[in-house]
Amino acid sequence: MSISPEVLQEAPPAMDRLREELAGAREDIARGHPQAVERQHSLGKRTARERLDLLLDEGSFLEIEMFRRHRAQGLGMERQRPHTDGVVAGSGTIDGRRVFVYAQDFTVFGGSLGEAHAQKIHKVMDLALSSGSPFIGLNDSGGARIQEGVLSLNGYGGIFQRNVQASGVIPQIAVVLGPCAGGAAYSTALADFTFMVRDTAQLYLTGPDVVEAVTGERITHAELGGAQVHATRSGLATFVHDDEESCLAAVRDLVAMLPGNNLSRPPALPARGAAGDARPRLAEIVPVEPNKPYDMRLVLAELVDDGDFLELHQSWAPNVICALARIDGQVVGVVGNQPTVLAGVLDVSAAEKAARFVRFCDAFSIPLVTLVDVPGFLPGKEQEHAGVIRHGAKLLYAYCEATVPRIQVILRKAYGGAYIVMDSRSIGTDLSLAWPTNEIAVMGAEGAVNIIHRKELAAAADPAARRAELLEQYTRELVHPAYTAERGLVDAVIDPVETRSAVARGLAMLRDKRKHVAPRKHGNLPL
Ligand code: HXC
Repeated sequence: MSISPEVLQEAPPAMDRLREELAGAREDIARGHPQAVERQHSLGKRTARERLDLLLDEGSFLEIEMFRRHRAQGLGMERQRPHTDGVVAGSGTIDGRRVFVYAQDFTVFGGSLGEAHAQKIHKVMDLALSSGSPFIGLNDSGGARIQEGVLSLNGYGGIFQRNVQASGVIPQIAVVLGPCAGGAAYSTALADFTFMVRDTAQLYLTGPDVVEAVTGERITHAELGGAQVHATRSGLATFVHDDEESCLAAVRDLVAMLPGNNLSRPPALPARGAAGDARPRLAEIVPVEPNKPYDMRLVLAELVDDGDFLELHQSWAPNVICALARIDGQVVGVVGNQPTVLAGVLDVSAAEKAARFVRFCDAFSIPLVTLVDVPGFLPGKEQEHAGVIRHGAKLLYAYCEATVPRIQVILRKAYGGAYIVMDSRSIGTDLSLAWPTNEIAVMGAEGAVNIIHRKELAAAADPAARRAELLEQYTRELVHPAYTAERGLVDAVIDPVETRSAVARGLAMLRDKRKHVAPRKHGNLPL
């Protein structure tokens, strides 16, 4: 911005003219370069400011460093010094609650990150952390600004450092609305949630040109790092939306369920008195036969307020469900096995997905409700070699260290290590509820009988008849509905229709739970 010399010479300077010039300068900056804006729109993308208008409450945005410019020399940089330096940063509110935000402006140097651009992001991150408010990054960037060399890399390092310092203190949300290449990609992986827009967002460390130069492989932007890839394969995208409007509306919905920081509770809605709320459909949704599939999301919808829940990573590791929802007005995190996918087994991806979710909930005082119907861990060479022990241990670790209220509901089967991992009594659940259909054992009857009666079956005159007898005996003696309750490892066997009511009472009982852990620098999570 420049103030005309005539204005400064006036004594005293005419306030009206100063104000007019300031308004004009601000308007120019906000308008941007018309051709670049047109190109941005032609790509199906909005500008940084249009996005902030969609994200934040009307009139709430307080912008910082609008007049900031880079001071880079060489490669022609001194001739182009646009204000903002390609990022709009500041603070606003979502439903009246404070958030800090940046929105990269692809119309300025392709949203690439140089020294000034990075310092603006550092500033809002520092403010977010010191004020205990969520931090949201809207990404649309070619990555490290090539012309600024090491200063760009240094800028990214400063962002990552802050991402990590803020982790578990304030919620961090990354939104990818265009390219998010190179350094920018790591910040999304460090965030708690990553949103992507289906056809316009791409996330990768090196783009298709570099891939081809290094490996000879030709690949499109979408094939390399489009929303579909990250939603189904890499697990990086927590949520995918068809367009920017629905994406930013969903960010608002998510923020409405999160506390501002790790010292506050998630925002509660008025209690509805779910304690007496019977749900007859629950007895119909779940078949009594342990191997018959059903959709755990239908169960979830019966348990939570208004049948409304926000599912994370819907298309990645769908054999486990992770969702945020409300029960009697209180925000809860629900982890549930999904019998419609791989019979609900746990595998490498499911364990990783659930572990990260459990840790997020624990960091931000969100009680955990775990819905168990699990045949075990997925057996086989592929899983063993992919590190199912190491990844399964992440989930075990996450539950073992969680100090938030924890309620386990065992609907049907819970076998072996998967029983232990899914928030069993032994690893610290606060309240374990089981349906009369529960089957909790080292393994299912078929496998168990084959192992412990192998010799007897081989010698039997009628092996099929003897096997049937042994199966019946195993089930009668070891997996009857009260077996675990008799040993105090479930607290109550409940009528399925009472589940919402029982969980709501449990949450009320545990509301003021406090658990102290021995001081340590940090544990050694099996990463
Ligand atoms: C400087 C950049 C830039 C960059 C884009 N631009 N990326 N300027 N540094 N990294 C500029 C372009 O020169 C162009 O300027 C404008 O932004 C728009 O870019 P286009 O290429 O015309 O747009 P488009 O065709 O839509 O392609 C967008 C893109 C492509 C896919 C992002 O620009 C691209 O591949 N950029 C490089 C991506 C990349 O490899 N980044 C990694 C950097 S390394 P004009 O003036 O022509 O409008 C990195 C390392 C950090 O980040 C590691 C930390 C762990």
